[in-house]
Amino acid sequence: MGVDARMKKLVMLPGPTNVSDRVLQAMLNSIINHRGEEFHALYKRIREGCQEVFETRNEIVVLSASGTGGVDAAVGSILNPGDYVIVPSFGEFSSRLGESASFTGANLVNPTAELGQVPSLDEIDDAMRKSEKPKALCVVYNETSTGVTWRQLKELKDIASKYGALFIVDAISVLGGDELPVDKLGVDICIAGSQKCLAAPPGLVILSFSDDAKKAMRDVKPRNQYFDIPRYFKFAEHDETPSTPSLPLFFALDEALKIIQEEGLEKRIRRHSICARAFYSAFESIGMPAFAQGKFRSNVVIGINYPKGVDDAKFRSTLSNKFSVMVGGGFGKLKGSMFRIGSMGDVGSAIVSTTVGACAQALNVSGYACDASKALGSAWNELKEL
Ligand SMILES: Cc1ncc(COP(=O)(O)O)c(C=O)c1O
Repeated sequence: MGVDARMKKLVMLPGPTNVSDRVLQAMLNSIINHRGEEFHALYKRIREGCQEVFETRNEIVVLSASGTGGVDAAVGSILNPGDYVIVPSFGEFSSRLGESASFTGANLVNPTAELGQVPSLDEIDDAMRKSEKPKALCVVYNETSTGVTWRQLKELKDIASKYGALFIVDAISVLGGDELPVDKLGVDICIAGSQKCLAAPPGLVILSFSDDAKKAMRDVKPRNQYFDIPRYFKFAEHDETPSTPSLPLFFALDEALKIIQEEGLEKRIRRHSICARAFYSAFESIGMPAFAQGKFRSNVVIGINYPKGVDDAKFRSTLSNKFSVMVGGGFGKLKGSMFRIGSMGDVGSAIVSTTVGACAQALNVSGYACDASKALGSAWNELKEL
């Protein structure tokens, strides 16, 4: 194995993201009794810490599952066969959210937008009006497959309320990296992943449930034991989970939340926004526009179009093997035409500069002549605000 291959790689994927040594070390904690006092204190602290990051007083549930498990649990707990559910589709993960809703036997209505865009508010209103007693409006806040953030949660909530529907937000890739005040926006169920902007390892999904969401659950028969959310509420009365939690991941999340508290949420969100601006401006300066335009641009998933002639596989393998930086490729129809950088969690001046410099050199190796120092200069122009 060469020295380069032994280098610890910079994980700039759109999740999972880099996990700090502090959080990794926390996972080495000895195993504790998940029915004992130590776990009770840990689970209580984690739920309170999550409430701060979600900006909510709603009840928090932590599932030992990936994001998809959280999505299935959310829709499965409020939808009955035959209910109408509106799930706007504008990329891979919003389509999957619709599929999860369909699995419950609900009638799926999915206004659709071109990749890189979102459906209009009129289209959503129309879909709700034409549906019989719509039970829920479920949206992806940050569409990880395209790098589009739907910055109209307030307007979407207003539409949901107008039709008496619950408002469910898949914030798996963005919570902790952009504005999402759950209570202020009236989000009934919010879903966040551990492996994205919370900067913990993959394997946990965190959900918040409003009183209205809890009320709606009373009329839904649980479909399975593992995702029976009311059981989680019952066990949480004693600071426990119904089945064995993934203890090392709980230790990690506990530490990751402490790090967020130390920095402060506002500062953390501002840092993500500055790093995103630095990435966009660096690539623009070398003639590479972002896939998502203007107000849609994500602060945590930076989607960049390839210039003509650059081969996706060659670029990303050069970047990973020669420069030890991993980024994501395009999804579905966008495979080969763009790449995605996860600007999540621990991003700052050093990580952004290293990634920009490495990308510029890997582009040169892949046949696109560009000036790395120009890209770095543009990034630094934004990063100096940090
Ligand atoms: C917006 C969104 N929803 C759902 C998921 C699925 O999460 P997981 O892969 O952890 O199951 C992802 C994963 O990237 C995502 O970005």
